[in-house]
Amino acid sequence: MEDSLDLPLREVLPIIQKRIIEQTTYFGVTALKNPFDFWIYQELIHRVQPDFIIEIGNHKGGGTLALAHLCDLLGKGKVIGVDLDHARIPDVVRNHPRVTFIEGDACASFGRVANLIAPGDHCLIIEDSLHTLENTRNVLRTYSPLIQPGGYFIVEDGICHHGLDIAPFPGPYEAIEEFVAENPHFVVDRSFESFLITWNPKGFLRKVDPAQNGGLR
Ligand SMILES: C[S@@+](CC[C@H](N)C(=O)[O-])C[C@H]1O[C@@H](n2cnc3c(N)ncnc32)[C@H](O)[C@@H]1O
Repeated sequence: MEDSLDLPLREVLPIIQKRIIEQTTYFGVTALKNPFDFWIYQELIHRVQPDFIIEIGNHKGGGTLALAHLCDLLGKGKVIGVDLDHARIPDVVRNHPRVTFIEGDACASFGRVANLIAPGDHCLIIEDSLHTLENTRNVLRTYSPLIQPGGYFIVEDGICHHGLDIAPFPGPYEAIEEFVAENPHFVVDRSFESFLITWNPKGFLRKVDPAQNGGLR
């Protein structure tokens, strides 16, 4: 590490990204997740104690399993995983009793997800799917009504072209900016970016009463 002390952050971020893409696992299952962010998820989940965590975009399921294990430790909560294709998900994730997978396009599958949730249930939503502006915006618009005041919608990978030159542009960051500009019920809560390194800049959206939004936008 001492050899790297003089590296600027813009050179460090691609090194971390390569580690995430090529080597990062959770309990042996590939997880495309920055560990700083996962620690923040743990803090957030402990604080809000959701009844459901909806992870949109599951890939090989390491992130899904990690979320289910956090629910195990909390003693409450279920995880709904939505992806176009769950063929790569191993049994250790597929068979976890807190996990339900729904296969299909996220927005087209909304009705099947919503059917699993009762009125008043508290949902945390984590969007980590296609990362185009249009898809991210559609997921935000479609799924946001499931969140109760005080709850959170996490949009991953706003770092695309805002720290890393990867993935679509415009992408998640621009979708977040459009969404909060049109929707007074959600504000960006930057307190969750306090490690400084996050793959989700502006990506922690809190549902508020618009009359008391606290000026976080
Ligand atoms: C970045 S990976 C998800 C990584 C995962 N959250 C993790 O922590 O390891 C993106 C996933 O989104 C899925 N995806 C892409 N477009 C989608 C869509 N329209 N609806 C649902 N899932 C989609 C892909 O199949 C892929 O598995």
